[in-house]
Amino acid sequence: MKSFYITTAIDYANGSPHLGHAYEKVLTDVIARFRRQMGDQVRFLTGTDEHGQKVQASARQRGVAPQAFCDTISAEFRAMLPRLQITNDDFIRTTEERHKKVVRRLLQQLFDQGDIYRAEYRGFYSARQEQFLQEKDRNPDGSWPEIFGEVTEITESNYFFRLKKYQPWLVGFLEANPDFVFPRFRQTQVQEFLKEELNDLCISRPRERLEWGIPLPFDEGYVTYVWFDALVNYYSAVADLPGVWPADYHVIGKDILVPPHAVYWTIMLQAAGLPLPRHILAHGWWLQRGAKMSKSTGNALNPLDLVDQFGSDAFRYFLMREMNVGQDSDFTPEQFLVRYNSELANNLGNLVNRTLNMTNRFAGAAVPVSGEPRDAERELQALWARTGPECVGLCEGFQFHTALERTMAFVTATNAYVERRAPWKLGKSTAPEDQELLRTSLATMAEALRLAVALLEAVMPAAAARINGVLGYTPGPVWRDELVWGNRLAGNRVAEALVLFPRPTPPAAAPAA
Ligand code: ME8
Ligand code: MG
Repeated sequence: MKSFYITTAIDYANGSPHLGHAYEKVLTDVIARFRRQMGDQVRFLTGTDEHGQKVQASARQRGVAPQAFCDTISAEFRAMLPRLQITNDDFIRTTEERHKKVVRRLLQQLFDQGDIYRAEYRGFYSARQEQFLQEKDRNPDGSWPEIFGEVTEITESNYFFRLKKYQPWLVGFLEANPDFVFPRFRQTQVQEFLKEELNDLCISRPRERLEWGIPLPFDEGYVTYVWFDALVNYYSAVADLPGVWPADYHVIGKDILVPPHAVYWTIMLQAAGLPLPRHILAHGWWLQRGAKMSKSTGNALNPLDLVDQFGSDAFRYFLMREMNVGQDSDFTPEQFLVRYNSELANNLGNLVNRTLNMTNRFAGAAVPVSGEPRDAERELQALWARTGPECVGLCEGFQFHTALERTMAFVTATNAYVERRAPWKLGKSTAPEDQELLRTSLATMAEALRLAVALLEAVMPAAAARINGVLGYTPGPVWRDELVWGNRLAGNRVAEALVLFPRPTPPAAAPAA
């Protein structure tokens, strides 16, 4: 079995999860489930990023000790995962000893080999924001914006990581690996960024300024800069597991590609002599009226409200159907409802209802054996013969929105086939030819439904299991074999009915409220 290690970004433990965090988990989960279907041995990691200025400030604001604050927020992120049907194998917290010991080991190694050095740093410092400022932070007239409070020029001794030394190597690496970052246009952005000379990275914060971090193993007067700590999680979680590292994909948002993942992390690994991840996948943002949803702007949606109202299958379906991986997408409750009603309730839900209803009415609740396929059956089977392999290819390339569109087009075609055959009319005739056509049409719609469900399973796992359940069907162990048209349901007893996507009640029409 091929091993496949996939990770999400680890979320800052400074506020509750929002739709953007949920999306990244769902996207990664769909990839993980798809790779399992394809036969890979998958390892899937997610977790929380708990050190640093932001978390310390949020904890202080609430008058809680940072560790207790992180415990609460991290538990909230962790509790969200089963509600979204996320199949992670592990959940890492950067405050765990298993992580901290690997960070210390890495820091010590880089220090010993001379890639971390101490130097004086001179710059403008905002005590109110507790951060060093850059020239670009100034107002056009040269003054400092109000939010920084009093700004003073200070000199501070700190530790630096030799990024610059590795810049030529990274440039060459990206040239040799043009598909390191998905999508490709994001890799181009990394390469553009590298056209300017890098500065070495300040990886320490004096204890007087920041308490909440991992102390440097070679100087207890400092804690580790949060990114230098957080990025290591991908490796620290599996450092003791043979055969897992390197990761196949780091799934992250576009805002943390350059420089953290594409520059700091790649160079950290190269300097440490560790293999690089095979790929980074940078997804886009969920927006509200064009603005990024985020904790700080207060325009964030609670994903669990949508899950409560529509169920986690519909939630996952919408995120994957609406977003072209890599692009941004505006979230509107109206669009959610349109897809819920037209694609899930009226298309897929309708096919499930018809299949159960007519198999009960006209075949004693047992899927009949199909007669010889005729034109209409051959057309539907030909559509399937294109749709199945096309969707597999689309999923391999992360084009889930198109794969779902094609799958739903097949469901639409199946519903059209049912209209054309009109089993409710055939059922009224006693002519042997009509009776055979009735059996063929019932067998065909059930088989088409089974196949569509096989394609939908990674995105809507619970709904897929429920549909298979009412069809009396247990899929076999090899997923690709499930994609072959084979009248596998013949003789199966089906249930009477299944309510999959109930009509939302009117208040649910405004999930943002
Ligand atoms: O960046 N749409 O944490 P974070 C889509 N701790 N994705 C979004 C989003 C949105 N509106 N808002 C955020 C951090 N995200 C660091 C990561 S990794 C070693 C450390 C994504 O809580 C964002 O792009 O700010 C990131 O990938 C993830 O959510 C966590 O964001
Ligand atoms: Mg962020």
